[in-house]
Amino acid sequence: MAGIIIPPSWRIPEREAADKAGYANRRQFIRATSLAIASAALAPAGCLARSAPSLVHSGPLDTIPANAPRTGLPAARNAAFSVPERPLTDRVAASSYNNFYEFISTGDLKNVWPLVGDYQPFPQTVKVSGLVEKKFEIDIADLIREMELEERIYRFRCVEAWSMTVPWTGFPLRKLIDKCAPTSKATHVAFISADKPKEMPGIRNAPWWDWPYFEGLRLAEAMNDLAFVATGMYGEPLPKQNGSPMRLVLPWKYGYKGPKAVVELRFVDQQPPTFWNKLQPAEYGFVSNVNPNVPHPRWSQATERYIQSEVNIERRDTFLFNGYAEQVGSLYPDEPTTLSRRIR
Ligand code: MTE
Repeated sequence: MAGIIIPPSWRIPEREAADKAGYANRRQFIRATSLAIASAALAPAGCLARSAPSLVHSGPLDTIPANAPRTGLPAARNAAFSVPERPLTDRVAASSYNNFYEFISTGDLKNVWPLVGDYQPFPQTVKVSGLVEKKFEIDIADLIREMELEERIYRFRCVEAWSMTVPWTGFPLRKLIDKCAPTSKATHVAFISADKPKEMPGIRNAPWWDWPYFEGLRLAEAMNDLAFVATGMYGEPLPKQNGSPMRLVLPWKYGYKGPKAVVELRFVDQQPPTFWNKLQPAEYGFVSNVNPNVPHPRWSQATERYIQSEVNIERRDTFLFNGYAEQVGSLYPDEPTTLSRRIR
């Protein structure tokens, strides 16, 4: 494979990385917004004080919770979901190059794992609310033990134009939705992430953001066979920084559509608000399908930096729907196939 070998530069400060103007700009926007909101709200000085998390983990794979269920692991690989044209991303890379704002509002923005020491993903419950036959709450470890787990290899694409290939373990979202029994009035499902300021330094240090993280899908999207609830990766339970105890993986959408540490599913009858769209609607839409024809207002989406390992990063063309047009194309008859500036 003709890979462009870049020295271990993927951990270098974002502003120094090639084609990473987008990162820097996004961060600047976030910092500026955060500070503006903080001053506008006249946050008490105490709120702005940084508080350090406990450094209890010695490496990015040491963060798999000791009490995570291991029933059914390693799960059998479902051969229908493979990525023939790319090698898997190295496991250490996938667990040390993360995006999880509940932890990273301070320090090295791509160095989440050292900040997850206080986070206890288990025990935790997931709540099912809104337009369902019967609201309920279930222990997530029990849910994981109850579901039939499988492994799927998916392309993974972040809006910040980096990508990976990851073997996820989990179950189709559709199977969880079937358990929830939404009523015929439900058109969308909202997902709400864990809100644990005592354990999540990003929440603690940036209380002016609209926590907890929230996302949403049309019901037809959520029921698509590709929509997956990941409870593990690389044959083991999810490391905390990858979204333990469970997170969504929607491989045809940008990564931000897949909330981590999901603790509530709320069935609703209109499009729910979403974290990034609410913060910056001119840059982040609701649909957010991977599409090389729709540039982010501040950077192109035509290509991506494929992270195979810390030292092997290649530039690749971006695929429409991240290569999943066959499975999801019919859901989006209006998806742009020529250059479009419409954020959707
Ligand atoms: N979920 C929560 N709760 N908080 C986050 O900050 N970041 C999103 C998504 N889910 C995020 C989240 C973004 S922008 C991306 S690209 C992916 O998680 C990153 O997943 P990874 O760190 O496992 O690669």
